Amino acid sequence: MLQAHPEPAPEPTPARGAAPRAGTRGAVVLVGLMGVGKSTVGRRLAARLRLPFADADAEIERAAGLSVSEIFERFGEPYFRDGERRVIARLLDGAPKVIATGGGAFVQEETRALILRDAVSVWLDAPPEVLAERVGRRDTRPLLRGRDPRAVLEELSAARAPFYAMADLRVSSRRAPHDATVNAILEALGQQVGGR
Ligand code: S3P
Repeated sequence: MLQAHPEPAPEPTPARGAAPRAGTRGAVVLVGLMGVGKSTVGRRLAARLRLPFADADAEIERAAGLSVSEIFERFGEPYFRDGERRVIARLLDGAPKVIATGGGAFVQEETRALILRDAVSVWLDAPPEVLAERVGRRDTRPLLRGRDPRAVLEELSAARAPFYAMADLRVSSRRAPHDATVNAILEALGQQVGGR
């Protein structure tokens, strides 16, 4: 994995030794915890790369005709994960694009395998306390409902970090403006595939 930090200057460094391969279909997939800015950063990254953007959660909602919360409430998380995997497979199968995934997608073995096979994956990383500030107390995400966001995000961060660490690239967003994070991703991608 390569690491990049937008603060102060993006400085990607090899972490695992082996250079990750470019995606077979040119997709760039953002993974990481809720609140880290995958959708906002993904949209801006897509514009800079002149690629279409897709938000996997929004695609799932469109396909189901229900919000993510409603899908969790009515059918449960396993049903949501199944739909999530199918939607991400479809997005990866199409034209090259930037895809923002929901925070749990890359933790699912089959979904992760598809992303690792077909895309360049980027872990957008920030400490749980920063994420808790961003999601706020009134968040409607099903995994946060009725619970202290910081406690949940600390738990999820500890449980999921080993999975997110399997991504090709890691970019730390911390409190950096989204555009600095986009620049850090572009820098890391440029080092990987020689400038997209
Ligand atoms: C989830 C994150 C959400 C959404 C669902 C489950 C998770 O997406 O997919 O609520 O398991 O972390 P965001 O990361 O876009 O909030």
